Amino acid sequence: MKKKILVATERPFAKLAVQGILDVLDEAGYEMVLLENYKDQGDLKKAVIDAEALIVRSDLVTKEVIAAADNLKIVVRAGAGYDNVDLVSASDKGIVVMNTPGQNSNAVAELALGLMVYMARNQFNGTSGTELRGKRLGVHACGNVGRHVAKVALGFGMEVYGFDPYIEKSAFEYAGMKCVDSAEELYSICQYVSVNIPAYEDTIKSINFELLAKMPEKARLVNTARKEVIDEDSLLKMFSERPDFIYISDVAPDCVNEIAERYPGRFFFTPKKMGAQTSEANINAGIAAARQIVGFLKDGDNTYQVNL
Ligand code: 3PG
Repeated sequence: MKKKILVATERPFAKLAVQGILDVLDEAGYEMVLLENYKDQGDLKKAVIDAEALIVRSDLVTKEVIAAADNLKIVVRAGAGYDNVDLVSASDKGIVVMNTPGQNSNAVAELALGLMVYMARNQFNGTSGTELRGKRLGVHACGNVGRHVAKVALGFGMEVYGFDPYIEKSAFEYAGMKCVDSAEELYSICQYVSVNIPAYEDTIKSINFELLAKMPEKARLVNTARKEVIDEDSLLKMFSERPDFIYISDVAPDCVNEIAERYPGRFFFTPKKMGAQTSEANINAGIAAARQIVGFLKDGDNTYQVNL
């Protein structure tokens, strides 16, 4: 019997990506089972019971999902952030968890710059706006997405600064960024800040009022990472104390209603997470996920494992 590989995407991949995944798995002699647009975690729990491998996007792979999976060897999150997967439960059961770093970074970076242009041009309402050229952009965390953001921003003629304590200084120069030594310094000198930090225990709510208040006049915060990394009390305080502040995010914070009611025109939030929602990103991440599964199940290749 063929090994079953479950592709569970509450928000489906583009059709071409699904075909690409199918081709890779088919060639390897595996059976792909597709669970798209599901609305209930119960559906995922049922579908995962006999799967050897699981490909997901932002779908929640909870303790309960893992407990239901009797044959599961590997979960690949087709994307960058793996905060949707319960790593502890997976590790306890000996299940390998991987992501597909870099595969959707360009899509996220293009969205970040697109959002910045949209707000700089007053949401295309016909009034006179501003340009990005010559403005300072701070890239907060300079992994794959941050470096792509820098590359696109440099094309717009922005002056790009980066902060990332985990990256060698030489890598900033290579990416065309000026390296600064602290988040405080980054926020102090940049009118625009692009948030690219992952959601870890120590980064959740780490962007607080102290940091935001350092931003120069006409501050624009662009978040294409996770809403959870922003401290929302601080966000509301920033809106209230700094009338020049604009927040742009993929997706809306929990306090969206309060912001919408009190600060019209000073925010834009995508209705659904859209950073990686391109055909190209779906194809890149989906096919990479399928190949990683084949590599792992056939050869034990655990490159990109995140639950070491
Ligand atoms: C990621 O972490 O890769 C992005 O947030 C994209 O997630 P998605 O594939 O669920 O849109």
